[in-house]
Amino acid sequence: MNRRQFLVTSIASALGLSACGGGSNEVKSSNNDGSATNNGESGESHSTEFQKSLFIPEEYKGVTEAGITSYNLNLQQGSSNFFNSGSTATWGINSNYLGPTLRLRKGNKVAINYRNKLGEETTMHGHGMHLPAKMDGGPHQMIKADETWTSTYTVNQHACTNWYHPHLMGKTAEHVMKGLAGLMIIDDDKSESLDLPNRYGIDDIPLIIQDRAFNSDHSFNYNPSRMDRMMGWKGDTFMVNGVIKPYIDLEAKQIRFRILNGSNARVYNFAFVSGKSFKQIATDNSFLEHPVELTQLRLSPAERAEIVVDFSQDMGKEEIFMDKDSGKNLLLANIKNVATISNTLPNTLISLPALNPDDAVNTRSFTLSGNRGRLVINGQSMDMKVINETVPLNAIEIWEVTNTMGMVHNFHIHATHFQLIERNGSANHIADNEKGFKDTVMIPPNESVKLILKMTDYSDNSSPYIYHCHILEHEDQGMMGQFVVV
Ligand code: C2O
Ligand code: CU
Ligand code: CU
Repeated sequence: MNRRQFLVTSIASALGLSACGGGSNEVKSSNNDGSATNNGESGESHSTEFQKSLFIPEEYKGVTEAGITSYNLNLQQGSSNFFNSGSTATWGINSNYLGPTLRLRKGNKVAINYRNKLGEETTMHGHGMHLPAKMDGGPHQMIKADETWTSTYTVNQHACTNWYHPHLMGKTAEHVMKGLAGLMIIDDDKSESLDLPNRYGIDDIPLIIQDRAFNSDHSFNYNPSRMDRMMGWKGDTFMVNGVIKPYIDLEAKQIRFRILNGSNARVYNFAFVSGKSFKQIATDNSFLEHPVELTQLRLSPAERAEIVVDFSQDMGKEEIFMDKDSGKNLLLANIKNVATISNTLPNTLISLPALNPDDAVNTRSFTLSGNRGRLVINGQSMDMKVINETVPLNAIEIWEVTNTMGMVHNFHIHATHFQLIERNGSANHIADNEKGFKDTVMIPPNESVKLILKMTDYSDNSSPYIYHCHILEHEDQGMMGQFVVV
């Protein structure tokens, strides 16, 4: 029994489950078998492994009329060709799988019209968006079949890379897995004045990373066992923007990647096979104050990072982007085009206002644990009729989140962004690349984080926001709670 299997078994028994989940993807994908292959392959041509070009979701700037920028999004059923033969029934937004990249500008009033043509109900949430609770698209803002729901608000936050996805109680994992997700890029004066790569699809590349599993007829295989729901479901096939093993031809210059971990449960440790370093410039909800040099980048589900990779000396080279945890290759970058411009990555990107812990008027504790076979927060499962927390508008608060379990969880708060002030009781344990604003934070087994935040602008004592673990199988079983801002 390897360490991972041991962990699975001991967690299962702690929860009173039998550990014989033999068909579970978790156990299958835990064999770390790919890294040797990668090392062996370096230096050869990878054109046979990466055959499809990377799909770049359409950039959608909306239509502005009478001061409102509108986006029309159809949630629809479709069919996708992920393989050379056969097709997969999928869902998409204005497309067969995934959705367009919405481009929003700070200060603009937007109306996002979600038209549900799926034949069943869902909801659509703006993950990372700072907006009124009624516009959040959480479990309460149901969109029935054939109905249209409009999320309208004024964009009121820093430039960042957010995303939109379904949030139906108990069904989020399945709806996201089928393909409903897309990016929302917010621009502001800062993002437009910094000398960063910003030609979308040319040197500013979105990467939505997901794992999936397929049946032999190429249909999606998503049938989580009780063990998968407990551990989080993982697939054995990796996709970038809905393409398996894609390549992209790039200019020999600085390239920005906006990375979203769009997977249900898998945590990635992104790196280049060559060990090439890169600079992280943004977290979930803001730029970092300074670029942070990294050779590996860990993202849990729903987290985003923007990185800049300097390929200016790499003309003619190939670089493979991979996940070190699974040992799987994700994307081939062919540096084969002559740079038409160049950028100088600034040393200072932004100055972020830091909330002072001494000004905090309240500390809330959230304990993530297992309780009689269910995953809970503070001992409770999500109940749509229960408001778990009442948070005063404009009060500075510290939220302390403790993972008491031997498995990874993360913690996402709707409609606000926070800063990390401690990991495991110490500010020194916060990594430089997590010092920007965030809305989702990973909490490794038996660890804790302390967040500082202030709920601003929107109060509504009748409409709750939510917080939850963003491992979608955990969220769906109720590892979630509700709060109102008053
Ligand atoms: Cu990505 Cu509750 O959301
Ligand atoms: Cu969210
Ligand atoms: Cu979890």
